[in-house]
Amino acid sequence: MRRRNVAPRIIPVNGRDPRRAEEQENRTLTWAICAALILTFIIVVYLFESTPPDFIPIPSTLPNASRVDAFDPHAWGTYRSHTYFGLRTKYPNSPLFGLMWYKQPIYEASSLGIRHTCKQEEGVQYMWKDADGKSFGHQDVIDKELKFETNWVGVDSSFSTEIRVLPSKGDIKGRKYAFVFYMLMTDEEAKMFVKRDASGVLIGYQGEAPGIGKFDLTFENEGSAIITNTSMHVPANFDPQKVDEFFQRFLWLNEDAFIDIKAKSFNENMSDAEPRNLFFVQFLVDDKSVIRANFNARNSLSKNAFKPLYTQKLNAFREEFDKKYELEQSQFPKSYKTMGRAALSNMLGSIGYWHGHSTVLIGGAVRLPYGPLTLVSAVPSRPFFPRGFLWDEGFHQLLIKQYDPVMSVDMVATWLDSIDSHGWIPREMILDTEAKARVPPEFIPQVPDVANPPVFFYLIESFMKTPDFMAHHSRRLVQLYPRLKLWYTWLRTSQAGPHKGTFRWRSRNATTNLELNPKTLPSGLDDFPRASHPSGEEYHLDLLCWMAMSSRVLRQIAEYASDTEFMPDIEADMTLFNDPENLDKWHWNEAKQRYFDFGSHSDTVSLISENQRDPATNGVITIKRRHVKTYPSLRHVDNVCGYVNLFPMLLRLLPPTSAKLGIMLNSLKDPKELWTEYGLRSLSTKSPYYMKYNTQHDGPYWRGPIWININYLALAALKHYSTVSGPHSAVATKLYTELRHNVITNIANQYQETGYFWEHYNDKTGKGGGSHPFTGWTALVLNIMAERYD
Ligand SMILES: *[C@@H]1O[C@H](CO)[C@@H](O)[C@H](O)[C@H]1NC(C)=O
Ligand SMILES: *[C@@H]1O[C@H](CO)[C@@H](O)[C@H](O)[C@H]1NC(C)=O
Ligand SMILES: *[C@@H]1O[C@H](CO)[C@@H](O)[C@H](O)[C@H]1NC(C)=O
Ligand SMILES: *[C@@H]1O[C@H](CO)[C@@H](O)[C@H](O)[C@H]1NC(C)=O
Repeated sequence: MRRRNVAPRIIPVNGRDPRRAEEQENRTLTWAICAALILTFIIVVYLFESTPPDFIPIPSTLPNASRVDAFDPHAWGTYRSHTYFGLRTKYPNSPLFGLMWYKQPIYEASSLGIRHTCKQEEGVQYMWKDADGKSFGHQDVIDKELKFETNWVGVDSSFSTEIRVLPSKGDIKGRKYAFVFYMLMTDEEAKMFVKRDASGVLIGYQGEAPGIGKFDLTFENEGSAIITNTSMHVPANFDPQKVDEFFQRFLWLNEDAFIDIKAKSFNENMSDAEPRNLFFVQFLVDDKSVIRANFNARNSLSKNAFKPLYTQKLNAFREEFDKKYELEQSQFPKSYKTMGRAALSNMLGSIGYWHGHSTVLIGGAVRLPYGPLTLVSAVPSRPFFPRGFLWDEGFHQLLIKQYDPVMSVDMVATWLDSIDSHGWIPREMILDTEAKARVPPEFIPQVPDVANPPVFFYLIESFMKTPDFMAHHSRRLVQLYPRLKLWYTWLRTSQAGPHKGTFRWRSRNATTNLELNPKTLPSGLDDFPRASHPSGEEYHLDLLCWMAMSSRVLRQIAEYASDTEFMPDIEADMTLFNDPENLDKWHWNEAKQRYFDFGSHSDTVSLISENQRDPATNGVITIKRRHVKTYPSLRHVDNVCGYVNLFPMLLRLLPPTSAKLGIMLNSLKDPKELWTEYGLRSLSTKSPYYMKYNTQHDGPYWRGPIWININYLALAALKHYSTVSGPHSAVATKLYTELRHNVITNIANQYQETGYFWEHYNDKTGKGGGSHPFTGWTALVLNIMAERYD
């Protein structure tokens, strides 16, 4: 999917041969010739693969998919996904507002442990429990014994926010908590000054910012609090990521303030007349306190505005939620309903906005800026993946579209507007310093021949099946069409397989001997095993199915767009890619009665530890290398069964009457293969790759754990096959009911137990694993509960 692999700390050895066979007794002249041919072939493929593209990507000049007035650029929102609580507008140089907190130290600590950007290791629990992704939100935060809510509401270019500190759990021995609001002006045109009352007491800040106009910022609190304020002017290249470090350093320099905050001011070292671009307001409070900040632009916020506005938004959101998802009528316990609302809210509350340049890697060596791009996107996980991921976003939007279809299309449009003139869309969107926060530098560059599953087509198909949406917004799909077409035609050529009607994900590493099975990152299924020896001869089942589905959808939109010229072309694609005979010809294995990938494959590969001298230290280090016992040959990858093998069913290539569909459905419940009490696992326990490390350090990812996006596709497909008449509808219905029950129950149990949604779930115990909170596509549990697949 998106794993950040830790680069192995190993020095590659020269002269390695990935195909070194150990059993060489029956080697014959024929074998030697074969080997030589294969080697030549691999070298040619490697050279071909690593040839720099002869172009430098530039953004496409096709008409924009985005509507000009889709988003108010000066309305505030929680678009700083990677912070526990941060607000900004969708204007590139927006002011950045944020919250930090720490426990007042009782002794001189070297670090205050300031909470600011989401870090999994801090063990904080946080989740938007109510949020519409636009104008308000309610988030619960639990940091050990400290519990509080961060609530906010926006009107025009103003906002009001309330931090409500709840009674602490346990004995806190009179310790106080420091909550710090800050605001950083990133636009050099923006000006900010201190604001004092008649008697000269500082009562807040005021100023003017582009687009927002004149504003003032005031603070209030309920309960006793010691409030200290400071403001300053920092250089233009100030990194908002580091605002916490900066603040801590500031406290060190003002030692009294740090250890024992009396009601004395921090050192304001500027005169009132000088403009500032950063302030901190610190409240030192007990539990059971409330603090507020009011950002009032052009006087659109009335006095004491927070409470009535917030209450009204909250009630309206909950009402709409109940109306849209109709969970009342279901058999679910009340806690499930609350979980469903949290899944949606945290998805919406984590939506981010980024503007800047992506970095592309040309020819494996040259890094160039690509853009500027503007993205509005949901994120898989705030602590781990607080940025846009192309295929994840398709699944996120399947959730968001149920709640707010217009916003959903507008968000997808920002993705399409990042397409380059050839039709490539960056797989990961890392556009500004805030997005770079959690990305190791070597993973920042995007490679312009790397694809990712076109889930947006699946999403658009579901839009097209919603009559209400089509009645009002079908023209919107036509606006997306030119860029969708460009993307599709790029996928069709750049990921073409060795034969017409086959497809191959690019960018597998054909020369490594450090991976048990070289990863296929573009597929989204990272380490899901494919042909053991990557080559230009292989072709991938899932990609054919993605292309078949995409061609169906594009043909439909081409018709709406009256693109008659393209019609014969796309119809031919659609017919060929969706033809069961084409599918069977390349992927069906009669002996094993299954669909498989095809490629240069050996059944007997393993990682074996070797000792090696470390030139740096001259000590001995152990590294794992891949050993291959039997030569690979061109054939089906038939010792692998998992998510990939289900794709002809998942994306509904198989007609309801297909005997092969029957075979697939009837084997789905085998607990030794994919069926578990918690959902479908990614890889059969019978596969030699099941739960195997891919390298010395790289644990199994898509080799066993249960992933909710694929379970969602399975449920949607089973529902489909259960409702269309055919010989398999009864078995599909039964599978649907049981799988749905298993998936929902397990996610709910884990949520009750841990307070989180998880990246994936353990196939033996159901326990959540990987990054968390991971609302991402796991949040589709709400659609599954409400049975909203279209
Ligand atoms: C398309 O979007 C870009 C970037 O947002 C903008 O600069 C340009 O003016 C837009 N073009 C049209 C025709 O709206
Ligand atoms: C800091 O500002 C708040 C209100 O904005 C005010 O109540 C408080 O007295 C100020 N404290 C100092 C030390 O300036
Ligand atoms: C004022 O304080 C800030 C923050 O501590 C510091 O960076 C800056 O150099 C100071 N300016 C002066 C004039 O002392
Ligand atoms: C393939 O892997 C090898 C060793 O693991 C590495 O040195 C090489 O750079 C990789 N090639 C590509 C194109 O990533």
